[in-house]
Amino acid sequence: MIVIRSAKPEDIKFLLELRNDSKVHRYFWENAAITEEDHREWVKKTLNDPSKKIYIYEQEGRSIGQVRFDITGDETDINISLISFLHGRGYGTTMLELAEKELKKSNPRIGKIKAYIDPENIASIKLFKKSGYGHEKSVACKNRPAIKIVKHI
Ligand SMILES: CC(C)(COP(=O)(O)OP(=O)(O)OC[C@H]1O[C@@H](n2cnc3c(N)ncnc32)[C@H](O)[C@@H]1OP(=O)(O)O)[C@@H](O)C(=O)NCCC(=O)NCCS
Repeated sequence: MIVIRSAKPEDIKFLLELRNDSKVHRYFWENAAITEEDHREWVKKTLNDPSKKIYIYEQEGRSIGQVRFDITGDETDINISLISFLHGRGYGTTMLELAEKELKKSNPRIGKIKAYIDPENIASIKLFKKSGYGHEKSVACKNRPAIKIVKHI
């Protein structure tokens, strides 16, 4: 069973492992290599930022993924990732469902979730569409083509 919980400072190591998993970060907008020190600073800052929320997914007590919400007003961007050896097993749908429930609990006024996806990231596009995201639009993200896809919750 997959469970979700808020991230803690002790998750820095796992988040770095996930960030440096080449199959995970290849589609990220910020995909240059990151030093451990910079990563630590970023995680600490993010955990203390009320407009950001990071949750960790666990399976049988082991961390397997994360979801981050970057909130502006009643909207949020979403960034979700799963450790690569578990990709393609259908975990994504459950992960997104759990993420939305947690988001609604902690920030009930959020009405819209936005995802910006690399057009080549087929698994991710399929996952979001299957989970009720739509209104697909071609946009640019960090000077690269992106697909913006949204869900009203
Ligand atoms: C996005 C991510 C969380 C999806 O989780 P997942 O458990 O691997 O996804 P699923 O197994 O549920 O697959 C989702 C869909 O994509 C399909 N799929 C999976 N891998 C695929 C691939 N390499 N090529 C094409 N389709 C693929 C699946 O068949 C499924 O479609 P279906 O339900 O029609 O069969 C995971 O792949 C990941 O961490 N990717 C790297 C980070 C990322 O890109 N995040 C998204 C940006 S916000």
